[in-house]
Amino acid sequence: MSKAAAVAAPQAPFTPEQEKILKSWTTHYPYPIMGLLEALRQVQEWRRCVTPEDERHVANIFKTSLSHVHGVATFFPMFTKKPAGRRRIGLCHGLSCAMAGADKMAHCLEQTLGVKEGETTPDGEFSFEEMECLGACDYAPALLVGDDLKGKATPELIADVAAKKDAPSQDGFYLGTPKGVPTVLTKNYDNPKLRELETYRKQGGYKALEKALSMKRADLIEEVKKSNMRGLGGAGFPTGMKWGTVPPEDKVPGPRFVVTNADESEPACYKDRVIMTANPHQMLEGILIASYAIGAKNSFIFIRGEYGVQYKILTKAIAEAEKAGLIGEDILGKGFSCRIQIMRGAGAYICGLDTALLETMEGKKAWPRQPPPFPTVAGLMGQPTVVNNVETLSMLPPILNEGGEAFAKLGVPRTGGTGVYSVSGHVAKPGIYEFPMGSPLSKIVEAAGGVPGGKKLKAVMPGGASTPPVDATELEMPMDFDGPKKFGTFLGAGGVVVMDETVNMAEVAHNTERFLSHESCGQCTPCREGSNWTVRILERLFSGGGVAEDLPNITRMGENITGKVICALGDTVGAVARAYLKKFPEDFESYLSGAKKNG
Ligand SMILES: Cc1cc2nc3c(=O)[nH]c(=O)nc-3n(C[C@H](O)[C@H](O)[C@H](O)COP(=O)(O)O)c2cc1C
Ligand code: SF4
Ligand code: FES
Repeated sequence: MSKAAAVAAPQAPFTPEQEKILKSWTTHYPYPIMGLLEALRQVQEWRRCVTPEDERHVANIFKTSLSHVHGVATFFPMFTKKPAGRRRIGLCHGLSCAMAGADKMAHCLEQTLGVKEGETTPDGEFSFEEMECLGACDYAPALLVGDDLKGKATPELIADVAAKKDAPSQDGFYLGTPKGVPTVLTKNYDNPKLRELETYRKQGGYKALEKALSMKRADLIEEVKKSNMRGLGGAGFPTGMKWGTVPPEDKVPGPRFVVTNADESEPACYKDRVIMTANPHQMLEGILIASYAIGAKNSFIFIRGEYGVQYKILTKAIAEAEKAGLIGEDILGKGFSCRIQIMRGAGAYICGLDTALLETMEGKKAWPRQPPPFPTVAGLMGQPTVVNNVETLSMLPPILNEGGEAFAKLGVPRTGGTGVYSVSGHVAKPGIYEFPMGSPLSKIVEAAGGVPGGKKLKAVMPGGASTPPVDATELEMPMDFDGPKKFGTFLGAGGVVVMDETVNMAEVAHNTERFLSHESCGQCTPCREGSNWTVRILERLFSGGGVAEDLPNITRMGENITGKVICALGDTVGAVARAYLKKFPEDFESYLSGAKKNG
């Protein structure tokens, strides 16, 4: 039976109730068009696809063109043209999941469900898709049903899912910071009740907000500058300095916004998922502090579409805080009012880049903008906007409670405080680990139990798929925003992947380039075409058809991409395969010489 077998009967019109819900998205956010993505998500949920008629209908509701809605609906992978299954099963094939046997589980899913990848069962009940990193590398190989994480895929779990007997969504995590290591963020994470407002307040929660609201805005920004905190979403821009670039209202009048970047789609990174799961109120408190600092009365959390569990946790936490007068009008009686709203993504990695995220929130395709202007000057709907990462914002309450200087002292001179690392791959204890900035990578690997099974460590990716790996001789690399540069890599967003001696680095380079090629937004020719060609060259090499020029061609092509594109995704396309080839040439050459066959 083909994919088309499950095509729906002629499309029924939306019911009056559904019409009402769709229209309600035009008034949900401060600007009508901001509701477009959520409206399309709603259509996908009801129809299990978004048809051309649906696109036209939504375009009419939002008083925009069909081409606009079609562009958005065809950009984001969550929207399908043919009906997806009522239970949409996603299996991750990112690096950590591939290393944990995702291929075998894909085969098992195909056998159990009786469909190939990309297909829907004839009764319309199940569909199966391979997905990019799901932000659950600690559950590798990660299995998602709808937007509920079901955990590590095993034949038994797959059989349960197929029999609709699967367990509830996973919201667990392993926190492995060794005793004695100073921590800031994850201190009380072992208390599962921490996510409730009452418990958070008992632990001193929202005291930092009270303090912030009693300070002058300029003093608050100064305190954050003193902390030396640099943005923990990957780019490492100093947070206080970023806030300081928001122009005063007499220069740029109108609203200001704070946007929390909870898109977390960099392969190997899942710390934001854990932060939102364990302590949502600390992030909300941080958002309110940032909002007060820049004078934002509306703030948004943009969360990746696959984080269904965290979406529910945050929705509940916001409701609790609103009820307690901590979000909304005249917060804590201090005269400051601020609303926090959530928006969900629809499956595109590029949305995590701040300007692409703002485009998405404005109901457009996630096409990165070419700065300047930077978002702090002209961001969401052209207004000054601070985009900060989940971890960055969650650090603010402890910074205010303990003081900026105390936070700075924990780290190194140019990067203050601590960082939370998501560790996965060939380690005994995958999980999250908090360490002071500047700690050697070896300490993190050691804390995670090192490589199991008596195997040797071959390489470590320090900060997610965009960061080139270091080898076993380079583990003393300091983990902060400057240290890794001398080793030809970056801190990124702290997604540490450990690889043992059995791993072929040409295959790892392929996994990352395939991901980047899939996620390229297509605006720049070098990124769009270069990523595709790099993948094709590597695949030809793996199939035994490689030629000697392939390897210098990979390097030459990379040099022609990096620096010639709009955004850092394209720079990474050009840098990744080149860096792997430079450090591990023998892994590529083994395919050329026939010493290694892909299997
Ligand atoms: C391709 C790409 C993807 C990104 N994805 C994320 C993301 O998922 N989450 C995030 O916080 N930052 C991400 N960033 C960095 C953001 O553009 C931005 O620098 C960050 O959200 C700012 O917050 P911070 O200063 O608190 O780190 C990404 C950058 C690039 C180039
Ligand atoms: S570099 Fe790639 S992802 Fe970035 S804007 Fe250009 S095409 Fe899009
Ligand atoms: S969840 Fe599979 S690689 Fe991250």
